[in-house]
Amino acid sequence: MKASAFVTCVTFLVATTPAAIDKRAIVTSSYHRYVRPIEEDSDYARVLELSLLFYEAQRSGKLAPDNRIAWRGDSGLDDRGDDGEDLTGGYYDAGDFVKFGFTMASTTTLLAWGAVSWPEAYARLGQLDVIREALKWATDYFIKCHVSENVLYGQVGDFTVDHAFWGRPEELNTSRPVFKIDPEHPGSDLAGETSAALASTSLLFRTVDPDYADKLLRHARELYNFAKVHRGLYHEAIRGAAQYYESTDYGDELAWAAAWLFKASNETKYLDEAEHHYQHFHLRERPNEFFYNKKVAGVQVLLAQLTGQQEYRNAAKAFCNFSVRQQKRTPKGLLYIDKFGTLCHAANVAFICLQAADYPDIGDPQEYREFAKQQIHYILGGAGRSYVVGWGHNPPTQPHHAASSCPDKPTACGWSEFDRNAPNPQVLYGALVSGPDEADRFHDRREDYVYTEVTLDYNAGFTGALAGLLQLQAKAQAHPR
Ligand SMILES: *[C@@H]1O[C@H](CO)[C@@H](O)[C@H](O)[C@H]1NC(C)=O
Ligand SMILES: *[C@@H]1O[C@H](CO)[C@@H](O)[C@H](O)[C@H]1NC(C)=O
Ligand SMILES: *[C@@H]1O[C@H](CO)[C@@H](O)[C@H](O)[C@H]1NC(C)=O
Repeated sequence: MKASAFVTCVTFLVATTPAAIDKRAIVTSSYHRYVRPIEEDSDYARVLELSLLFYEAQRSGKLAPDNRIAWRGDSGLDDRGDDGEDLTGGYYDAGDFVKFGFTMASTTTLLAWGAVSWPEAYARLGQLDVIREALKWATDYFIKCHVSENVLYGQVGDFTVDHAFWGRPEELNTSRPVFKIDPEHPGSDLAGETSAALASTSLLFRTVDPDYADKLLRHARELYNFAKVHRGLYHEAIRGAAQYYESTDYGDELAWAAAWLFKASNETKYLDEAEHHYQHFHLRERPNEFFYNKKVAGVQVLLAQLTGQQEYRNAAKAFCNFSVRQQKRTPKGLLYIDKFGTLCHAANVAFICLQAADYPDIGDPQEYREFAKQQIHYILGGAGRSYVVGWGHNPPTQPHHAASSCPDKPTACGWSEFDRNAPNPQVLYGALVSGPDEADRFHDRREDYVYTEVTLDYNAGFTGALAGLLQLQAKAQAHPR
């Protein structure tokens, strides 16, 4: 079934000259014909499992005995703080080997939100323990990084130093400088997002491991206070990060953290503070995107879910209405916000609007869900090719990812692997690549990271959206119309 849908699509594309496609594409409503639905259950289910496998391939530290990635081993075992603190564990940010707190934390919060909202999807796949382990791999690391009340390590490894190395993380031989925030060098965005990650994850451990949930909540409260009392942008404290992962503002992270703390602790003072930050930082304005450093749309939807108040419902509606109806698209119908992480941007909006669609009176739930399906279908192959490594029709084979570009050991691995124009020998299952450009063009070349980069945060909203769609399918099957 799946294959025949692809064959039809491919035949159509082959039979049409590129010029003809471009011309037709000018009629914006014609994108529906290109984005062919792939409806089977097994697609969302299988890809959701694979996307969790991608996170497993990104693990740093001493791996668990049940590690499923045969080509990965222990790494980064000497990662230490300034005073020798153990900073092993956590996840590598992308195809490189920096452990980068800000995106690791926003990834964690999004993965947790998806699992908190749609646990049946994970349960149905037998993946609830897998997502819990994935979250715990990050939160155990954040707890290590939170060495005292107002000190948080936010980065291990320096981007410039790290980028001189191409090879296996197990053979990484670069120096691993560490960077932290403290009261003299604050980072309300980083501390706030880490607090949100810990608080949201605590919800998934509340019943299965209440002690761990309490521990997460304790660290989340302290980090929120640190963020609130000592204000600043983390990239002014951790300067090397600015050129790669600039933060823009911290008001959204303060509101985000407080809202998650309310959801996790039931204490109304946190809701009051979230609402205060919302007003104070003017978070009602309609954002253009939902991204690791732009969380306003997430705050709007979460506050709408938590309070049901008109103000937040309207804000969420304005964002989803705009994204679904007016945001720029590629000729084949993909939401187009930025050329870096095209697919991540589209999947993040799909995720947010699936969240919005689950609550009463936030716009048109059917419209938002159709939109989400369409964006995810584009990613899975609806526009002619899959953008998920190791899955579907013609998937990317050269993700910009050092570890997976290495041959089996003991063959050496280095820059010649970076330069080799051939598929990565190790398949990085479940990784969503950055994606096509605004004309739906894609270069499956390792060095073209604008197209082939993979990162923790690129996969996060995507994983969540798959869970949301899977849960809808399960519901539709349980209550057929
Ligand atoms: C690190 O390893 C690479 C490749 O394995 C090698 O070329 C380089 O000389 C090593 N650098 C150091 C500082 O040992
Ligand atoms: C918050 O309230 C919910 C629902 O009543 C409850 O299940 C949960 O255990 C509470 N959480 C805490 C930390 O008290
Ligand atoms: C969003 O769309 C709905 C459904 O068409 C419409 O009723 C509503 O007024 C719109 N809301 C905003 C804030 O744009």
